[in-house]
Amino acid sequence: MPDEPVATRKLAPKPGAPNNDVVVRVRRIHRRDLNRVWEFLKLCFRDVNRDTVEYQRPRSKKRFLEVYEEEGVEQLLFEIEGHDEDAAEIVGYAECAVEITGTDNWMNERYFEKRDMRPLFVEELAVHPNYQGLGIGGFLLDQLEHLARVRGCTHLVLEVAENNKNALRFYRARSFQRLDAAIFMAKRVQVGEELLPPRKLKKSRPKKETTAASKREPKSDSAPQKTRSSKSTPPKPPAGD
Ligand SMILES: CC(C)(COP(=O)(O)OP(=O)(O)OC[C@H]1O[C@@H](n2cnc3c(N)ncnc32)[C@H](O)[C@@H]1OP(=O)(O)O)[C@@H](O)C(=O)NCCC(=O)NCCS
Repeated sequence: MPDEPVATRKLAPKPGAPNNDVVVRVRRIHRRDLNRVWEFLKLCFRDVNRDTVEYQRPRSKKRFLEVYEEEGVEQLLFEIEGHDEDAAEIVGYAECAVEITGTDNWMNERYFEKRDMRPLFVEELAVHPNYQGLGIGGFLLDQLEHLARVRGCTHLVLEVAENNKNALRFYRARSFQRLDAAIFMAKRVQVGEELLPPRKLKKSRPKKETTAASKREPKSDSAPQKTRSSKSTPPKPPAGD
């Protein structure tokens, strides 16, 4: 694999804290990092997941481990520099792919094709809670944008929960714009008998009168025909859940 994501960046000092020139560096994940990174992700998303309908991180460790085996997924670790790799502390994680990965995605590739977009899909972005607000998130995004350019992609595309206010503010400040997205809706149901009472039919509508002209005119070949396949097909539910 090419080694383009190897870079370092100095952290911005926290207000009131001395600037001790802490440096963050980025590298690709190794198999031996997997358990540590999983624990890191749980910590980063603990608060976010309390308030969102969908999990904002891989929903299971099993899935996270599968991702490591998948071709084409980039998993990058951002660490505070130590004397050697083992002493380094993970402060950020970013995951992206040019192809849509996994069996549980609902993304419509044609949406992007029609708009001449070649996205780099950002699957995860996380900064250690103790290190947020120091510019690491910005470094993660700069790194992904750099990878996107190197891979010939035109956009970074990601999903964020509407009530993840911190992340939304962060993305908007970096020129991300909303695409189309599902809104989760809920309605409280009234409790009652299992079977509903009888219901009267609606009054039948008066039938349209067919004119002599419309009877005579043959149907044009190009007119849309209502067939079974013209109905929209509901999306398949995610497999394996
Ligand atoms: C969203 C997230 C990646 C941002 O990372 P970060 O390291 O805090 O990002 P930065 O420091 O580069 O920028 C954060 C911005 O908030 C400001 N900020 C100030 N204090 C802050 C604090 N205590 N916490 C977070 N942001 C703070 C920063 O100054 C900066 O402002 P700017 O946009 O004007 O530059 C991080 O908050 C995170 O991991 N959140 C939890 C996981 C998550 O929600 N991920 C996204 C899922 S889609």
